[in-house]
Amino acid sequence: MKGLNTQSAFQEDIRWLNVKQSAVERLRRDVSKLGFGHLEQAFAPEALEKLRQEAERALPNAKHAEQSEALSYRASIGSCGRQMMTFLSSAEVRTLLSTVFDRPFTLAQEVSCVTFYGSGDHLGPHLDEPANRCVVTILVYLNAESSMPEASDSGLNLRIYGSAFEPGQSATMIIPTRTGTIVLGYGSRYWHERPHLRPGERVIAITGCYASAADNRAQP
Ligand SMILES: [Fe+2]
Repeated sequence: MKGLNTQSAFQEDIRWLNVKQSAVERLRRDVSKLGFGHLEQAFAPEALEKLRQEAERALPNAKHAEQSEALSYRASIGSCGRQMMTFLSSAEVRTLLSTVFDRPFTLAQEVSCVTFYGSGDHLGPHLDEPANRCVVTILVYLNAESSMPEASDSGLNLRIYGSAFEPGQSATMIIPTRTGTIVLGYGSRYWHERPHLRPGERVIAITGCYASAADNRAQP
């Protein structure tokens, strides 16, 4: 995929993505209708492994975060390493974003992170914040492990809701969490949730937040 000719702070010496046009068209339709969509097996050979290895190295320094009031969550959160930032800010990803959302975006590095979920970890229904730095969100599943990923109570599902949320509400879409899948969506406008992971389940996910390119130029 040829990229936008905008500046990147990171060198690119790798091809990251390997996605079919038909999959991108389906993603565009899902995003337009439900606010989120996804691409399965989205990576070029070796690219995913490069990111996964960097994430595994970041795990010892990840901070445990837990809260039970308002937004309920429990997970370990780390900083994106150089490879992750290079990927998130790559021309390939920016081109994918502009293709899906019909306008350009730039990475909001300061609110992007890598999250490690283990048994019992979760992230309750929420909108991504701050909204102007997370106009759209990418979730990259670097690793997803489960003995029963198809189980209805598996944590390897991302539940998508509408632009309003009430407890007990049914999801409008459930996106399976699988290694190599990329999720894109209006994370600050459509509620979404990671249910509790079952015993033995594990997920490593990059969260990339993007601001409108026009807004970003206005930043000091
Ligand atoms: Fe989110």
